[in-house]
Amino acid sequence: MQQIVLVGFMGAGKTTIGHELATILQLPLIDTDQLIEERVNQTIPEIFEQYGESYFRELEAQVLASLNDQEGIISTGGGIVLQEATRQQLKNFQHVVYLTVPFKELVTRIKNDSQNLRPLFLNHTQQDFQKIYESRASLYEAVSTIEIENTGKMVETIANEIIDRVGV
Ligand code: S3P
Repeated sequence: MQQIVLVGFMGAGKTTIGHELATILQLPLIDTDQLIEERVNQTIPEIFEQYGESYFRELEAQVLASLNDQEGIISTGGGIVLQEATRQQLKNFQHVVYLTVPFKELVTRIKNDSQNLRPLFLNHTQQDFQKIYESRASLYEAVSTIEIENTGKMVETIANEIIDRVGV
């Protein structure tokens, strides 16, 4: 069974690289944010607004737990590492790839991504958002088996680098 989980901050390219990996390896692409939205039939901004972040995190943990034996490329939300339970679960997956991008570039990408509204970006000052970014780095490092910088390279190049490193 082939299984690659992608983790990293908002805007790190998890979905984009996930698509490319899924195409090259001919594996299904599973997106935890999408599964959450389908489960409750609401968008992420709606879930945050109506029920709050903690409810979203509960759903996130449930969805991740349901994917343990799932073959494919699993693209996660940036906050997947926030709970002890999800961090433990992530250790059960075959490969966990941490995509890193410098903060300034992430902000540019998030601002340009009008299709994906991120409540945590919209509800925080840039300074506080940067604190969130900084506080998460060690969590991504702790759960990942491989770390790859996703800046200045083509999507295909990064995807092939991941394939080489995980040896699938
Ligand atoms: C979040 C990241 C988002 C989404 C939600 C919360 C986070 O996913 O799950 O807005 O806490 O980092 P992306 O990383 O795909 O933007």
